[in-house]
Amino acid sequence: MLSEEAKKEIEKALRKYPNKRSAVMDALRSAQKARGGHLEKADMDEIAVILEMQSVEVNAAAAFYTMYNIDKPVGRHHIQVCRNISCSLLGAEHLIKHMERTLNIKTGETTPDKRITLSTVECLGSCGTAPMMQINDDFHENLTEAKVDEILKGLK
Ligand code: FES
Repeated sequence: MLSEEAKKEIEKALRKYPNKRSAVMDALRSAQKARGGHLEKADMDEIAVILEMQSVEVNAAAAFYTMYNIDKPVGRHHIQVCRNISCSLLGAEHLIKHMERTLNIKTGETTPDKRITLSTVECLGSCGTAPMMQINDDFHENLTEAKVDEILKGLK
């Protein structure tokens, strides 16, 4: 079930677009935020009803983008490291290994205290400031090992 907060956000989003289905990205984001970082099938089914879409269409939109976490709860801080060409050439793989060692988890896993999830993603559109990663809604760019250590220390 969508939370009341998510339903209100979706109602607000509906006013921004010329047709209901255009609000699908906003609706998915609101539902994910209200659930604490992931989406469940019931959320997408309910969004489909509100937006007058097929459930499979809503599910396809959510499945296409790495920013939606379907059926997979994530930690309070979701680190998504870009491993596409610019970031790779400038050391993303090294930084990923460094974070795996520091956090004592593998990519795709969450720390036992549910604090941090480490994922990799394709290009986040910030190639000019590679290597980079996104943590929840914020970009962290021009990363170095020292900068990553500082960022990880700040994730409470
Ligand atoms: S390649 Fe990493 S942001 Fe584009």
